[in-house]
Amino acid sequence: MSRLNRTDRPYDIVLFGATGFVGTLTAEYLAAHAPAGLRWAIAGRDTGKLERLRERLPGGARAGVERADVSDPDSLRALAGQARVVATTVGPYVRHGEELVAACADTGTDYLDITGEPEFVDLMYVRHDARARETGARLVHACGFDSVPHDLGAYFTVRQLPEGVPLTVDGFVSADAAFSGGTFASALGQFARPRELRAAARDRLRHEPRLLGRRVSAPTGAPRYAPEVGAWALPLPTVDPQIVRRSARALDRYGPDFRYRHYAAVRRLPVAVGGAAAVAGLVAAAQLPPVRRRLSERVKPGDGPGPERRARSWFSVRFVGEGGGRRVFTEVAGGDPGYDETAKMFAEAALCLALDELPPTAGQVTTAVAMGDALIERLRTAGIRFRVAATR
Ligand SMILES: NC(=O)c1ccc[n+]([C@@H]2O[C@H](COP(=O)([O-])OP(=O)(O)OC[C@H]3O[C@@H](n4cnc5c(N)ncnc54)[C@H](OP(=O)(O)O)[C@@H]3O)[C@@H](O)[C@H]2O)c1
Repeated sequence: MSRLNRTDRPYDIVLFGATGFVGTLTAEYLAAHAPAGLRWAIAGRDTGKLERLRERLPGGARAGVERADVSDPDSLRALAGQARVVATTVGPYVRHGEELVAACADTGTDYLDITGEPEFVDLMYVRHDARARETGARLVHACGFDSVPHDLGAYFTVRQLPEGVPLTVDGFVSADAAFSGGTFASALGQFARPRELRAAARDRLRHEPRLLGRRVSAPTGAPRYAPEVGAWALPLPTVDPQIVRRSARALDRYGPDFRYRHYAAVRRLPVAVGGAAAVAGLVAAAQLPPVRRRLSERVKPGDGPGPERRARSWFSVRFVGEGGGRRVFTEVAGGDPGYDETAKMFAEAALCLALDELPPTAGQVTTAVAMGDALIERLRTAGIRFRVAATR
């Protein structure tokens, strides 16, 4: 059976983890922006908490309430079977995520998350991509600040360059923002598992089909001063360059030989050195279980930056693309990256999968491959800027 008959499912979108920090912002966004007639539900492990959330949502009475718990796989299967699209914020995903991916792959249900954990994405590819292709389910990871602006920004940049020639794109991220307990727990968890991370990446490479007649790479660049953006560029080994690389593998438009490099852009050298040292310190601390425990106790699940801090937060990702004798400077920019904009990107991606005419895809796919132009259009309408700054 390819695509299951999904129109008779009770919900277009189910938001799982709706009671968490990002989950609540996403539920508020959907309540305010979903078109009339969208059949959607908030889901989680605590019905009382869900009911209280629904009461606070504008027009929330329209949303259903569904109970499911990651420790009860049958409840996840039931949830997946009720929806055309399931969007989940229940992380850390390496710990909590797999059963829902398996349930969606098996039931032909489209799946979205906001993971930034490369190990999780690689494991899910190896274990569930083939089944999802059989049932027609689209499994789209990293639909938040990791990795929507980078994936769609690289895609947007490529579209400004000539076709059929080797292309390079460099992405430079800058942001001013604070983070939540859930993000901190996920980052610490991933820092603590360097061996598992590398093993999952190797396993994925063994399973990925070879790319015939084209080359795609995402090497870690060296730290350098980047005059093209007037800032110090520090290599940023997040999930983002891997996601961009997968979009480039899947889409011929990225040309016969494509390279992407991903950097944090920092104007002042002492800030660059301090930032690198802070991350190195956190990685080292994450290796020691007692220190890791003490750190996670300081930032609790469910906590996160308040509305005032988020209102002051911003992000900008500048891209420099080159190929076929042309050089283009582009930018994707918006407000608070980790929460307000993540909720917006996540909710719009769910609406896009549920409602828009999209190219036929299945299995583990990126935002650029599954939604591309349709999602860029939605995000632009929702206030995230995609612009060409200059062309030479
Ligand atoms: N991609 C990005 O840019 C980005 C940005 C922000 C966050 N994130 C990621 O998103 C995830 C969520 O972050 P957050 O700050 O929203 O975390 P959070 O506030 O701690 O929320 C976690 C959610 O998971 C639910 N949950 C926990 N255990 C569960 C279980 N056994 N069964 C069902 N639900 C369960 C919680 O339910 P209760 O309310 O009942 O406790 C809550 O709804 C993290 O992994 C974080 O790293 C990614």
